[in-house]
Amino acid sequence: MKFTVAIDGPAAAGKGTIGRAVAEAFGFAHLDTGVLYRAVGVRGGDPVAAAQSLSAEDLARDDLRTLEAGQAASRVAAIPQVRAALLEFQRRFARREGGAVLDGRDIGTVICPEAEVKLFVTASAPVRAHRRWLELGGDEAQVLAQVRERDARDMGRADAPLRPAPDAVLLDTSDLPVDQAIARVLDLVRSRLA
Ligand code: DC
Repeated sequence: MKFTVAIDGPAAAGKGTIGRAVAEAFGFAHLDTGVLYRAVGVRGGDPVAAAQSLSAEDLARDDLRTLEAGQAASRVAAIPQVRAALLEFQRRFARREGGAVLDGRDIGTVICPEAEVKLFVTASAPVRAHRRWLELGGDEAQVLAQVRERDARDMGRADAPLRPAPDAVLLDTSDLPVDQAIARVLDLVRSRLA
């Protein structure tokens, strides 16, 4: 069975948490596609060459979750050749047998427009910055500035900008507890599977 759940949205909206819960509930494979761009960003050197030669080791680095890695990822993600190098792997993952959940910025629009479920998960910038700050610490005002900077870059780039697919279900998690957000998405997936 091929069944794809595409989850897009800005940083710290809850995509990863929801994606992991869906994958676990239905036994689907899960790919956090941001990790691919983070691994390219932190490798340094020529980002196109890095994207073309990403290894399992690159994806297992323990410095991929930092704010700096997020910024570096957002910068290399604007390079069309970097996106092109990562496209096929993501497409194959999306249509693998047994079901797949992918979270990112362009899953429902570019990687898998035929996904059976498309979600656009969002929350206000201050709420998302507060979550990132709880997770990573630092100066909250600076974290908010970085979140806004990354949003502007991810939404403003020419190639595969962050935007909801026309048929995506919108989920604003600003005031929605995570367990309720997960419950809603599980109901949606269940209804599409039926
Ligand atoms: O989801 P994340 O914060 O780990 O993503 C890091 C950056 O990678 C994000 O700011 C933009 C880029 N990205 C992308 O362009 N397309 C994706 N599908 C996933 C991430």
